[in-house]
Amino acid sequence: MDSIRQAVELARSGDSPAHQEFIGGSKPIATAHEAASTREVRLDVDHLEANRIVAFATGSESGRYYDMLRTQVLQEMDKKNWQFLAITSPTAGCGKTVTACNLAMSIARLPERSAVVVDLDLRKPMVANYLGLPASGGVLSVLDGQVPISSAVIKAVVGPNSLFLLPGSVPTSGSSEWMSSQTMTTLLQAIKREFRSHTVIFDLPPMLLGDDVISILPRMDAVLLVTGVGSSSVADVKECQKHLERVPVVRVVVNKVSEDVDTYYGSYY
Ligand SMILES: Nc1ncnc2c1ncn2[C@@H]1O[C@H](COP(=O)(O)OP(=O)(O)OP(=O)(O)O)[C@@H](O)[C@H]1O
Ligand SMILES: [Mg+2]
Repeated sequence: MDSIRQAVELARSGDSPAHQEFIGGSKPIATAHEAASTREVRLDVDHLEANRIVAFATGSESGRYYDMLRTQVLQEMDKKNWQFLAITSPTAGCGKTVTACNLAMSIARLPERSAVVVDLDLRKPMVANYLGLPASGGVLSVLDGQVPISSAVIKAVVGPNSLFLLPGSVPTSGSSEWMSSQTMTTLLQAIKREFRSHTVIFDLPPMLLGDDVISILPRMDAVLLVTGVGSSSVADVKECQKHLERVPVVRVVVNKVSEDVDTYYGSYY
């Protein structure tokens, strides 16, 4: 654990949030994404649990960790009125997608908050799969100009709460070209406009797998770095740190901590 701790300290150096006034979010009265064309799907709780998505209701032991993470992340983001949170990791399989889904659900349970998940892992989009939602259309069909955002977004309902998902899809040509394209900038601007008072969580690919993440990072407000015990080395985290100098890291999650350390679902620094 010491090496992981040392690594996350390194990753977080440079994170010096200034004190600013709290700016709380509030639900919009009416926005285009709530138009008739937005599909609404009720999520299957058994499917969620089978995929480690647990933060849809209060009271679960494991969901408690995501609620703590939510509160810490929102406190940091509110200070700066930030809206876009990128979730990435050094290497594959650290738990980014599980973290993104749980964090969004935990935010969606707060009375005056709403969350959108945008699956920008164009190499391996899995958010729709984990939530049990259809992945057809999605972000590429919006980038291609085939459909407006309102048609590609899905309203995912679980219990009395809901969140929005823009599913991912795999492009036929290079994903990093899409990430750095002007069309992507236009899409992000549209998301900012349409989901003005939502926290938007972007599930990204691993940082060290290509240049997808470094292409999109300058357009993000903040980053949450998920490291996996047994998956992320100190060298990997140091390598990520080089690319994270200009984007504030709001939290580093050490995921997949074994049961003998008393947190199963992760630790936050
Ligand atoms: N805290 C955890 N404890 C145990 N297993 C976990 C934990 N979080 C995620 N996993 C499992 O690890 C695997 C990878 O999780 P996930 O898909 O979220 O990772 P990822 O970082 O998004 O992967 P990729 O880089 O392939 O996109 C999944 O099988 C998931 O159920
Ligand atoms: Mg993933």
